[in-house]
Formats: sequence, C-alpha cells, structure tokens
Amino acid sequence: MTAGLARLTDELGLLYGGDYNPEQWDPAVWREDVALMREAGVNLVTVGVFSWSHLEPRPGEYRFGWLDEVLGLLHDAGIAVDLATPVASPPPWLGHRHPESLPTTADGTVLSYGSRNQFCPSSDAYRAAAATIAEQLAARYAGHPAVRMWHAGNEYGQVCFCDRCAERFRDWLRARYGTLDALNAAWATTVWSQEYGDWAEILPPRVAPYHRNPSQELDFRRFGSDLLLDLFRAQKAIIRRHDAERPVTTNLMGFFGGVDPHDWRADLDVIADDAYPDPASPDGPADAALVNHLARGLAGGSSWLRMEQAASAVSWREHNLTKSPARLRSEVLQALAHGCDGALFFQWRQARSGPERFHSAMLPLAGPDTVAHQGIRALGGELRTLRRLAGAPVHRRVALLWDWTSWWAATQVALPTARLDPLATLRSWHRELWCLGVVVDVVPVDRADVALDAYDLVLAPAQYVLDDAAAARLEAYVAGGGHLVWGPFGGVADAEGHLRTGRSPACLRHVLGVSAEEWVPLPDGGSEVAWSAGSGLAGGGPVRAATLGERTRSDGAEVLATYADGPLAGCVAVARHVFGEGRAWYVGADLGGPDGGLAAVLRAALDAAGVPHGAQEPGVETVWRGHALVAVNHTDAATTVDVSGALAAGPDGVRAASALTDLLDGTRHDLAGPTAPAALPLPARGVVVLEAQAPTSPST
Ligand code: GAL
Ligand code: ZN
Repeated sequence: MTAGLARLTDELGLLYGGDYNPEQWDPAVWREDVALMREAGVNLVTVGVFSWSHLEPRPGEYRFGWLDEVLGLLHDAGIAVDLATPVASPPPWLGHRHPESLPTTADGTVLSYGSRNQFCPSSDAYRAAAATIAEQLAARYAGHPAVRMWHAGNEYGQVCFCDRCAERFRDWLRARYGTLDALNAAWATTVWSQEYGDWAEILPPRVAPYHRNPSQELDFRRFGSDLLLDLFRAQKAIIRRHDAERPVTTNLMGFFGGVDPHDWRADLDVIADDAYPDPASPDGPADAALVNHLARGLAGGSSWLRMEQAASAVSWREHNLTKSPARLRSEVLQALAHGCDGALFFQWRQARSGPERFHSAMLPLAGPDTVAHQGIRALGGELRTLRRLAGAPVHRRVALLWDWTSWWAATQVALPTARLDPLATLRSWHRELWCLGVVVDVVPVDRADVALDAYDLVLAPAQYVLDDAAAARLEAYVAGGGHLVWGPFGGVADAEGHLRTGRSPACLRHVLGVSAEEWVPLPDGGSEVAWSAGSGLAGGGPVRAATLGERTRSDGAEVLATYADGPLAGCVAVARHVFGEGRAWYVGADLGGPDGGLAAVLRAALDAAGVPHGAQEPGVETVWRGHALVAVNHTDAATTVDVSGALAAGPDGVRAASALTDLLDGTRHDLAGPTAPAALPLPARGVVVLEAQAPTSPST
C-alpha cells in the first residue's frame, strides 16, 4: 500500500495538482493550462475521470487523439498523469440501449442518465462496457511515460435495489451463510414472520410498510461495499494485465457510509481520500484533522494522498463560503503534517459550464492574476521546499476506534434514542483530544491486523458493535498494560446487530468493572453528574450528561462520578478499573458539553497513560512528522507556539534538540542558552515547519 506512493514521491516530490478535464476546453487552452501548471509547481494531474462519452462516443467507436495529445503536452512539460478509467459516468448510449444498466432506488424509482453515477453495479451491460473502456485505455497508455498512476472510477458509492442486485445479494448471502437455516438465524427471521423458505424470496431491503429487518439491512450495507469493491478489482485486474507496476487506486471519501474502507484498503496501492471541510464550521480544523487521521489509519500509519479538495468554495452546499489562500494553505499543511504526501484538487481549471461551474479551482475563470491562483502558486513553491517530509512517519501514541459495522448498526431505526449520532460522538471526543494537542490514528477494532499494542491509549467512543474476537483483543490490550477509555452505548450488539444478553457490555464488563442493566434516554437538558471526592476530577464542579445513559453499578471499578439527579440518580457515570497490568475507564453518557466533563476524563486518562497534552495556545495544532514540528494556527489572530511543550510531546529523537530550523524561511532558533525562545510567533492562519537539530548533528 505504501510502496506505490513512496515511488511516486521519490520521483516527483510531494504531489501537487488536481483533476484535469481538458475535454471541456479547446486545444489552445490546453497549452495555456500546461504552461500555467508548470508555473504553479503542478507535478501530477488526474485526467479522464469523466471522459467516457468523449473517448467512446458510440459503443466500440473510440476517439483517443485528444487524449494522446494532452498526455504528450503534459509529459513534455514534465507533468505526470494519474490516468482515470472513466467508469463513474457512463455515456447516454449505455442507459439508452440498456435501461437495465440504470440504478433503482429502494422505492423502485429508476434513475436516469443526464447526470453522473447512473449505473447499477450489478448490470452486465455496465460491467462489460466498463471493462472494455478500461481495457482500451490500459492497452493504449500502459507504458506511456506520462502515466505514473491509475485511478479507477471515482468515489465508488452507488447503491441499487434492482432485481439483478437482488440476485447478487442472494449469491453473496449464500457465500456468507451457506444454508437458509443459517441465514434465518443470522437475520432472526422468527421476528415478524420473516422466515425464508427459498433463496428466491430474499430481497434487498426495499421500501416496506414498517421497519425493516436490521440484520438484513446490515448485510445489505456489507454486500453493497463488497459489490463496489468487486467493480474496483475488475478495473484493477484489467490495468494490471497491461501495467504490472504503476500504482492503482481510487478516491475514498473519509467518513462516507457507502463503502467500508477497511475492506478496501488492502486493494488500494495508494490510500487516496477526498475531503471538503466546511469553512463555515467552527469545528472545521478539528474535523479535518479527524478525516486525516482516518486516512493515515487506513494507510497503516504510513503516508496517504489527498486526492481531492477545494481550492476555495465548493458549489454543492446551500451557502458556499470561500477560503482565503492562507486558510487553504493551513489545510494543506495540516494534512501534510498528518502524513499526506501531496495536495490534489478538484479541479485544475474552473468549469464555465455544467453543474460545477461555480466550484472553485486552482485556476479560476478570472485567470492567473487572481488572489486564489497566486496563493496556489505560492503553495506549490512551499511544497517543493518541504519535499524531504515525504514518507516521514507521524508521531502519535493514541488510537481512536471506529468501524463501519458499528456505525451502520448504530444509525438504524428503532433504537433507545435517535439522538445519539455515533459520528457526532466520535467527533466530539476527537475535538477534545484535538484541543489537548493529541494526535490519534483512527483504526477499527474489528480487524485483526490492527496492533493495539502500538498505542499507549485506546479510546472507544462509539463502539456499539463488539464481536467476541474484538472484545478479546481489547481485553488482552488492557491486561497487558494498555489504557482504554470506553464510551456510552458500547458493546451492545454483535456483528449481526443482535443485542447481547446479560448485563452490558456483556463481553467487556469484567474489563471495565462496570455493568448496566438498561439503556436510559436522558431528559432534555440532561442530568447532573457529580464527581466523587478523591476522584481527582472534582475541581471543575458538577457537569451535565446528555442524550443516553445506562443504569449501571460498579462491579469493582473505582467510581469517579455518579448521576446526581434524573432517571439514573445514584448510578455510575464515570469509573476507572485496574485490570491486569492496565486500566479501563468507563464514560456512561455524553459528557462532551461546555462544562468540560469529557475533557476532564480524557486528560486524566492521558496523564495515566503518560501521553503529554495541552501545552499549546487554543487553535494551535502541533504535529511531529519525522523530526519536523508542524505548527498550524487555525485562528485569525496571531499567537505563539510553546516550544518546550512541543518538544516534550515529540518523538524520542527530538526532545534534546539543540535548535529548530524553519524549513520554509531558513531561520534557526537555538534552544540552548539564555536566549532560547520559550515560544515562537505564529501569525494569523500561519504555519511553520521546524526541523529539530540533534545536539550532535551539524547545523544546516
Ligand atoms: C467530488 C467529486 C468531484 C467533484 C467534487 C466537487 O465528490 O469526486 O468530481 O464533483 O466532488 O466538490
Ligand atoms: Zn441494480
């Protein structure tokens, strides 16, 4: 997974560029594009994502001349190409000749062409046509010197409920369960008279009179992800027959529910991710960090690539705020700090037509003499300067658990409350960590290949589903000396979505030393939680617990806080338990309010695990990538970086550094002697990249 990206950055440096859609422009514009790309420091463009109708205007009739010319121009200019197979948007001829290739929604509506993404992933006609165009492209352009990477499809996410998808769903279920009896058991079909007597009776979860079977829905989500993965694999196999070497990838979408990226990661030669943080959101920088942590988690802790982002505004929100070049720069360098080895955009040149005509681009319609484009040029120059960061590991000691099965299952209907959004819980825990300056990997606990032992602290804010193997992994982690913080409504269900019997969380309560007998939605405004005297947390006064709690008792854990009023008065709200060599913390409800309850628990857990936190000014994010400290000021006011706090939080090699050298402007800050700075200035929205000089190594 990582070798593909390393080879590219070895050849090209940090990757810089974006989607390039020359088919929307005259050849004269292509020449201007290439010249301007060079001036902007662009070294990689993704070509052809939506070019299918332009490449194959009628079935089997190909038009490659324009692409030959574009690849030649780019290559002559030293710009590499990430060549796409254009299968995300089939031409009208496919839907016209093969109406069954169009997707059907859960209520039976067939979606038309005239947009994009209009295909049924099971359609034989679609699959054959997608294979043919991929074959044509791979045969023609494998070995083309410009083509350094392949990009199959785009943002795989289609869902279809048609009869053909129903057949494939049945095949998938046969492979998973073997017999109808096993399927009936897994779906608990004795409830509401749903027992299946014949495979042919089984359907996707289409619109029905009342709530659908939750296990069937869960399996349909898994099936949908596997079905799309099968499409990606088919494209990759075709490319591989012609090109054994160049990395093949597709762009994931962060916290997107349509595919489970943990099932995809092994097939992607480069972890590529699209992100469009909302400039209007006050939590934008923290949430952007979380998406980056997910990408790094998917990359097994190694480098990854931001395949798409907006240079300024998008055009698909209700009100599309623009971004200043300084803000864009801070987002790009934030991702770089988090292990991203480049910055690619949607798109290079702003469209003048079509649905995305108001979407920003690296080159606005107003041309290069614009604030936005000058910012893009400056950023390209800085990325060239920072080339040595490519491939460097990100220093982090904490894992935040998150998996798609839990997310899917905990967002179904008919739960104790519809107000507990697991993603919102994840974000709120992460925001507290982010404010404390803690860098995390987002990893799943339901995959055996994630080594929890690599982390000093593991947090499980929203682990609704916990299968036995995952519970055993957590138990072994804590028993072996790890620190675990467990959130509300966790360990409730198994992988089929069936509730566990016995006191909850049935398979982890011995580790937590706390158990619950009932899930209890809290009244509007929440309940009061009082810290126990001696908890060490009492200083801040009582806090509010919101949304959903559990009727708990301690089974041996030290009770740190109890509900003071409401339906759970007297129950354990926060506890800590010594288990084996480690410790488990229990947080029984949403304590993420402004009174700081969650932050207090997380600080205590970080302290116990020996993870430094909290040294920096509000809004200042510091991350160590290799021996470089990246400090980002996400605020609009000038501030400072606390040097000793940052060094104390760094990896082993940097704590005794004798100097920090600013890689962007060359300034050297000596850390020895009376003139050593306690803090370094950081302008509004500013970013510094400071390389630590080891005491013995000669200064640069
Ligand atoms: C992405 C997509 C791009 C472009 C972009 C606009 O989802 O892959 O093609 O539409 O959004 O923000
Ligand atoms: Zn279908």
